[in-house]
Amino acid sequence: MTNHPRLLMCPPDHFQVRYEINPWMNVQRQPAAASAQTQWQQLVASLGAHAEIVLCEPAPSRPDMVFTANAGFVLDGRVVVSRFRYPERQPEAPLFARWFADAGFECLAWPDDVCFEGAGDCLADQDAAHLWLGHGPRSDIRAAALLARAFQLPVYPLGLVDPRFYHLDTCFCPLADGHTLYYPTAFSAESQMLIRAQIPIEKRIEVSEEDACQFACNAVGVGKHVFMNYASARLQHELDSRGFQVHEVRVTEFLRAGGAVKCLSLNLDGA
Ligand code: ARG
Repeated sequence: MTNHPRLLMCPPDHFQVRYEINPWMNVQRQPAAASAQTQWQQLVASLGAHAEIVLCEPAPSRPDMVFTANAGFVLDGRVVVSRFRYPERQPEAPLFARWFADAGFECLAWPDDVCFEGAGDCLADQDAAHLWLGHGPRSDIRAAALLARAFQLPVYPLGLVDPRFYHLDTCFCPLADGHTLYYPTAFSAESQMLIRAQIPIEKRIEVSEEDACQFACNAVGVGKHVFMNYASARLQHELDSRGFQVHEVRVTEFLRAGGAVKCLSLNLDGA
């Protein structure tokens, strides 16, 4: 990751809860439009002090397009555009594909029958030496081998078993210097073992259920700055003691759709 990464974001002009494709979504509990705009602008301002914010055009009747993490997975100017699991989000794919092509990214070939939800489910460690793939609720396990071949990197597949944490980026977040935030029970027992085998104990930051449900793992790290919706005093202290500066940015309106800080941005210069 560069010091001043570009982050792709999409204004929440058409953001709504129009369907229910994860347990956080309830069409009876709509986000307040004005408050969503304010929170999103505050996120732009906060992230914008440490990153370059790049915008894409929101499309009417594509309420989840605001979650640009799901546009695709980008590494070194190459992108795999998402193949969404649910028909409700599938029309976003050609819109994001056009954006990537116009912006000069090389769009990699991918079989249409392999679901893959981009940087929602695929995360690189911060020196991009390997990738983690969350699979089950959205992305297909077959994506692991395809990503390994496309990017010539080892890919560690992680099985997601708690429906509340349906994308890898809702429960796992690689940060600077190998530190990693995660919510252990979101993963199968086997995947918890893989995480423990790959990440040394002093680098693992296990978050509580309370923090996880406030989307603390859905964080953006830029160097030692970490942006998240909420961090309990305990989590703040843990991050602080490892030299991180926590920036809490409330995005509670977006939690109603099952997304937070990380989902609302896509790092175009890393993962
Ligand atoms: N409502 C969206 C969905 O269910 C939220 C996506 C959140 N994005 C993410 N990267 N976790 O697909």
